[in-house]
Amino acid sequence: MNVLRRKPKPKCPLYLTDEEQAGLRAAGRFNAQLMDFVRPHVKAGITTLELDKLVYDYTMDHGHIPACLGYKSYPNTICTSVNEVVCHGIPNKMPLRDGDIVNVDLTTIVDGWHGDSSETFIIGTVSDETRHLVQATFDSLYLGIQAIQPFGKISDIGQAIEKFARSEGLSVVQEYQGHGLGREFHQEPGVPHYLPKTGASQIVIEPGMSFTVEPMLNIGTWRTMLDTRDKWTVRTMDLSLSAQFEHSILVTESGPEILTQTQNGPKPGHKF
Ligand code: MF3
Ligand code: CO
Ligand code: CO
Repeated sequence: MNVLRRKPKPKCPLYLTDEEQAGLRAAGRFNAQLMDFVRPHVKAGITTLELDKLVYDYTMDHGHIPACLGYKSYPNTICTSVNEVVCHGIPNKMPLRDGDIVNVDLTTIVDGWHGDSSETFIIGTVSDETRHLVQATFDSLYLGIQAIQPFGKISDIGQAIEKFARSEGLSVVQEYQGHGLGREFHQEPGVPHYLPKTGASQIVIEPGMSFTVEPMLNIGTWRTMLDTRDKWTVRTMDLSLSAQFEHSILVTESGPEILTQTQNGPKPGHKF
C-alpha cells in the first residue's frame, strides 16, 4: 500500500512543550471539575442516561466538547459501567440500585486538549467483597502512578498494579489499557496495567510525556467479552464484578503530576 495514503500516526511518544502542557492541564482541571459536579448526583434512583445529560449540559454550558460523543460512533457523552461491566458501558434508562457499583468515565476536549478520568461509585450498601474490590482498585491506581519516574519504564506501572492486585486476590484486565493523551484521545504509548510478557512497554518515561493510568480489576477472571449487539459494552467473561479508576498524568522533571485530581473526590489514603 502507498505509504502516503496511510493516516499519519502521532509521533511516539510525544513530548509536550510548556505551552502545550498548559493546554493539557486546563483540560484535566475542567474534567476534574466536571467529576465534582456529577458526583452528588450518582445515587440510587437516577438513571445513567440522566447522568449523561447532566454531564453533556454542563460541558456545553462551559463551552467545551464531549470527547466520547461520536468518537468511533460512540452514542453518548459518558461511559457508565455497572457491576460486571468492565468499561465502555452505554448510558441507559435503568435506575441505579442499592448495592450496585458504577464507574463513570468522563472525557472532555478543552481548547483542543483532552482530559480523561473516571471513578467507581458505591451505591448504598454493598458487600464487604465489593467494597474491597473498589478500595483495592482505587489504591492500585495510586500505586501505579507512584511507580512513574522520569527515565523509568512504562512497564513499571503495570508491574506495580499487578503485584498489588494479586496480593489482594484480584485479577487485572489486559485487553484494555491506559493511553497517551493530548490533542488525540488515544495515542502512544499504550499503558498496560499488568506486566506484559513482551517488550511492548519498554518505552522510557520522559518529562513532557502525558498518558492515562486506568486500572480495571476484577473479582474473578481477567478475561473479558464484548457485547455483540452494541459492540461497546465490555463485561467480565464470568460476569464477576469489575471496578476502575482513571487519572490523566503529565510527567514532569520531578515525577508524575495528576491533572484530574478533584476537589471533593477520594484522595490517596481514602477509605471507602
Ligand atoms: N474514556 C475511555 C478511556 O478511558 C474511552 C471511552 S471511548 C468511548 O479511554 F468511545 F467509549 F467513549
Ligand atoms: Co482513558
Ligand atoms: Co476514560
